[in-house]
Amino acid sequence: MANLNQNHERGQWGSKLGFILAASGSAVGLGNLVKFPAMAGLNGGGAFVLVYFIILFLVGFTLMLAEIALGRYTGLNPIGAYRKISKKWSWVGGLGVLAGFMILSYYSVIGGWVIKYLVKSVTGGLNVSDPGMLGDAFGAFITSPGEPIFYHGIFMLITMIIVIKGIGGGIEKSTKLMMPALFVMIFLIAVRAMTLPGASAGIRYLLVPDFAKITPGVILAALGQVFFSLSLGMGAMITYGSYLDKKTNIPQSSTIIPLIDTGVALLAGLAVLPAVFAYNLDPNAGIGIIFNSFPAIFSQLPMGGLFSLIFFVLVLFAAVSSSISLLEVCVSYVVDEWKVKRLVATSVIGVALFLIGSAASLSLGAWSDFKILGLGIFDFLDYGSANVLLPLGGLLLCIVVGWFWGTDNAIKEATNNGEVEFKLAGAWIVLVKYIGPVAIAAVFIQKIMELLG
Ligand code: TRP
Repeated sequence: MANLNQNHERGQWGSKLGFILAASGSAVGLGNLVKFPAMAGLNGGGAFVLVYFIILFLVGFTLMLAEIALGRYTGLNPIGAYRKISKKWSWVGGLGVLAGFMILSYYSVIGGWVIKYLVKSVTGGLNVSDPGMLGDAFGAFITSPGEPIFYHGIFMLITMIIVIKGIGGGIEKSTKLMMPALFVMIFLIAVRAMTLPGASAGIRYLLVPDFAKITPGVILAALGQVFFSLSLGMGAMITYGSYLDKKTNIPQSSTIIPLIDTGVALLAGLAVLPAVFAYNLDPNAGIGIIFNSFPAIFSQLPMGGLFSLIFFVLVLFAAVSSSISLLEVCVSYVVDEWKVKRLVATSVIGVALFLIGSAASLSLGAWSDFKILGLGIFDFLDYGSANVLLPLGGLLLCIVVGWFWGTDNAIKEATNNGEVEFKLAGAWIVLVKYIGPVAIAAVFIQKIMELLG
């Protein structure tokens, strides 16, 4: 699709479906498959899911539309995009690029764990029915110095190869293959889990809210999760929006992407929690649900090994389609602003990410005594990015789009100068100018206090 308004050196999505799949690929990731079931388990199941939905409707759709519109309007990386609105805001984009860098460095370490578990499910290493034993093996693995770094390197390499191939030939092409496969696999696993005897307790736990369990802590956890899961607050969607042609219907895209993301998160919850309940395991096991409880359950089922394998392939696809968006944000900045070739930019940033990620991995074992603000390197990168920089980025996005770029200009861009319908424009204005910033400020203050306290 030729488009004279856009710089072809930067690349462009080949089709609308390609964009939707790439953006959903960014959104659907470890956040959906690992964090969502774990957090729902920890935060009261249905209560968490209900609050998640409310925040999704209030903030998720709002910011998704704001980011995509800002990206397409400016046709630039986050720093360039904010600068184009006003010179004094470019640092907001800088915070975003920094957040992306921090997230990817530890995200890739977890991606490496997923590759290791994929290998384990092929070699039969997961064929153990005792989750305690699996848990010990998992703990020993992630705290060891060599292996996790090796797998983190492989994960980083896969991410770099795709990003080097560019927008159409790398990101779009790979997500067009991975996402449909992912949808089929998550569906299969969820159906298998929900048909286990005793699964209904888990389904009920996830879907029936116990209102007494809605505490401030649950609300804050859900808000942070909406940001992380939808890839909002750091300019990933600004970057992906910058590769859009001027004809794409932005209000529609920014509805579809969060719906796909939430659908997959719910299916992941429906895959994991019923299985956990059917086997009387602990729904509060956090990340261990995925790496320990789940394989333990499947090892007891006919063809269980196959289901474990499918599950870890699915998690890997989700993780890669997200990690490429995180890397692309950093690469687009260096390519746009420093006029460096994509290959060079990706290689240098990739190696830097590998090194910092390796330090994060070591901080779980050999380097556990080294602390930044009281946190190990891994936890510092996770907390500092997901809990501080993302909400801060979202808050500033609302302020810049709502008050400086202006909602009229944003709506003009989002509706292709009035050509496509945006029925909820009135509500969106209120959300982006008032409700979004206030809601986010609340969570942000809480998170900072958590980090300092
Ligand atoms: N959304 C992804 C997940 O759920 C992670 C991710 C990718 C992300 N790009 C992002 C998070 C940008 C925040 C910002 O796993």
